[in-house]
Amino acid sequence: MPKGFPKEFFWGTATAAYQVEGADAEDGKGPSIWTSFSRQPGRIADGHTGDIACDHYHRFEEDLALMKELGVNAYRFSISWPRVLPEGRGPVNTPGMDFYQRWVDRLLENQITPFVTLYHGDLPLALQERIGGWAGEDIDRYFGDYAALMFRTLGDRVTYWITLNEPMRFSFIAYGKGEYTPGEQNLKTAFLVAHHLLRAHAQATARLRELLPNGKVGLINAASWIEAASESGEDIQTAFIANQLLHDWFFLPVLTGKYPEEAAQFVRGLGLLPVFDPQEMSRIAKAPDFWGINYYTRRRVKMDMSRPIFFAYAPPERETTESGLEIYPQGLTAFLKIAQKEYGSIPIFVTANGMADKDVLSNGVVADERRIAYLKSHIEAVQRAIAEGVDVRGYFVWSLLDGFEWTQGYDKRYGLIYVDYEKSLTRIKKDSYYYYKNYLAL
Ligand code: FCB
Repeated sequence: MPKGFPKEFFWGTATAAYQVEGADAEDGKGPSIWTSFSRQPGRIADGHTGDIACDHYHRFEEDLALMKELGVNAYRFSISWPRVLPEGRGPVNTPGMDFYQRWVDRLLENQITPFVTLYHGDLPLALQERIGGWAGEDIDRYFGDYAALMFRTLGDRVTYWITLNEPMRFSFIAYGKGEYTPGEQNLKTAFLVAHHLLRAHAQATARLRELLPNGKVGLINAASWIEAASESGEDIQTAFIANQLLHDWFFLPVLTGKYPEEAAQFVRGLGLLPVFDPQEMSRIAKAPDFWGINYYTRRRVKMDMSRPIFFAYAPPERETTESGLEIYPQGLTAFLKIAQKEYGSIPIFVTANGMADKDVLSNGVVADERRIAYLKSHIEAVQRAIAEGVDVRGYFVWSLLDGFEWTQGYDKRYGLIYVDYEKSLTRIKKDSYYYYKNYLAL
């Protein structure tokens, strides 16, 4: 394993159920909010859906062999809630549950440590329709029960559990920008949903503590390096609020039971802060065992109240990825240092990092040099943070495979492995796969 990292470091790749599994209506699986959202005209680039995705559900042995050859010792994947509980609650779908049981067993037999994300976007449609999904008052209870079911079923073999992947997306992006399911634009609901997500995290944490005393629970937050678009006092103040709103909002309540003060004032001033019993905040304050941080880019912000979530981003100053994100590895070091200082000094995993590139398959080769440079510089950024004292325990490339990239459909490829959608989903190792493989073999 590479030098300059702790001995027990986890090196992995990450995926999410709806993005790779496919088999969306098979073996008793219930539809998710993405099953229906992806069918709405105009929502997803080129009208793509995750119905088939990479067909990982049927090809997991092949994907496992690819991972084994890659040499990773960890894999982060998510459970599809409607695959195990088609209605979101009630009877368990045994074939769906068996799939995850088998998958965890196979990973462990291959010395790959599973990192299980309980929620990565695919809420059972039944819960959306019956109780309003994440806006529903009781959603945290359902989530807690689902989490407990998974703890009971897989907890004898899985140690690392992640409650939610990027709650910011399911609240501000889904209900603020309206870009993700259910695609509404209602900021009041966005803040309510954010609150319910924090409650849900707390519920699942409490259930884990009760059921799996040796289990470790984490929360993954989206992280960007946020800076002011200019040196004006106004922009500097905006960057301060943006950091509180896009980061602290999902870190601090879990630690301290409080929303960040200035951002909360700002949100309250707009009449958007949900009303809740103050006691409830002490129930939300359940520190995790680790933080997951998904890092991709830097954002230079300016206030723009006409935007769905208040901020406009200045045009990138440096090279960008195929998704238009500025490549800024030093932001990862800087964020990790701040996270360690401000967010309770608990272990951190970089749970997603990678880039969309213009991958061209030519004579069986994908020469994705830009991705190699991206990964290299970001791994070095992690190493630098560790050298400066940050307790980073693992690094996961997003992603193992090209997959369904939400509203961007299959147009944006993030994988170390190319998926040939034209030719029966054949997997082709990109040059970045070999880069990571050789790096891990050092
Ligand atoms: C991550 C998301 C994941 C994927 C990548 C590009 O942060 O969690 O689902 O879309 O971004």
